[in-house]
Amino acid sequence: MQSQIQIITGSMLGATEYVAEQIQSLLEQQSLPSELHLQPDINNIPLQGTWIICSSTHGAGDLPDNIQAFAKALPDLDLHQVRFIVIALGDSSYDTFCVAGKTLYDLMQRSNANPLAEIFCIDVLEHPIPEEVAGDWFATLLKDGLLESN
Ligand SMILES: Cc1cc2nc3c(=O)[nH]c(=O)nc-3n(C[C@H](O)[C@H](O)[C@H](O)COP(=O)(O)O)c2cc1C
Repeated sequence: MQSQIQIITGSMLGATEYVAEQIQSLLEQQSLPSELHLQPDINNIPLQGTWIICSSTHGAGDLPDNIQAFAKALPDLDLHQVRFIVIALGDSSYDTFCVAGKTLYDLMQRSNANPLAEIFCIDVLEHPIPEEVAGDWFATLLKDGLLESN
């Protein structure tokens, strides 16, 4: 059976992949299977269940290259059966702090997906090991039972 939890990753330099892997390992510890998409292809992602979107920002507020096609497909979809969270990595020295994550959050909402939490933005200047703070935050969601009905 296809996993009900999809971890969708936007990354240029690899930092966000560590975050995504940390999320997957926390899910595994709770016996919650998930699928990790390092090169997200909308055709391989079921339009239901829970999507955990992890993305950095590049350029001047741009989406990483590997998640651009995925993001472009979102406006044409009806995602009312999808619950989601967004974990955004960025650097607060940019005016466009975490704009890619905010764009993805916005696109998901416009396509009727249901947010499980506010966007979680991680400033890599403050947190040089972003997977640690992401893991701590995600563990509180797990503890609150937010991912349970998968
Ligand atoms: C060329 C370049 C441009 C960046 N532009 C932004 C930006 O516009 N906004 C932001 O919040 N962070 C920006 N960052 C910071 C990255 O989002 C941050 O370093 C992140 O950890 C990279 O994650 P990744 O390795 O998964 O791509 C930029 C980093 C680089 C190298």
